[in-house]
Amino acid sequence: MIALGADHGGFELKEAIRAHLDSLGVAYRDFGCFSTESVDYPDMAAPPCRAVVAGECDKALLFCGTGVGISIAANKIHGIRACCCSDVFSAKYTRLHNDDNALCLGGRVVGAGLAIELVDVFLNTAFEGGRHATRVAKITALEDER
Ligand code: RB5
Repeated sequence: MIALGADHGGFELKEAIRAHLDSLGVAYRDFGCFSTESVDYPDMAAPPCRAVVAGECDKALLFCGTGVGISIAANKIHGIRACCCSDVFSAKYTRLHNDDNALCLGGRVVGAGLAIELVDVFLNTAFEGGRHATRVAKITALEDER
């Protein structure tokens, strides 16, 4: 189950990815937004990320104008490892090495064709574990710092 979230800057790209997930038969929950009316990306990041942390969804796909703002907001939620990507190598290795559970894309940065490639790589690449698990555990430990 994939959690989708976007602000107005990412709305159209979210819709393109939603159609792609439909074509693949991949289940998702769409947490909005549902139009190009202006909304604040932290408000749109939180509900899908909380669904991932709660185990209701496996991963989140998040969209804003740049992908950056919504990734910063997502990373504030304990248990979320979000990466803003616009290249396939990073989308692959953030799964292999970081066990990333939220991919963030910029609707004003990448086109739908590249976004589909990024999403497919992200959803189909497994975490390598091993020494990377030790490092991811150290990321999680940072969440306890004030
Ligand atoms: C909204 O205009 C824009 O700031 C937002 O979508 C995002 O790019 C922020 O990082």
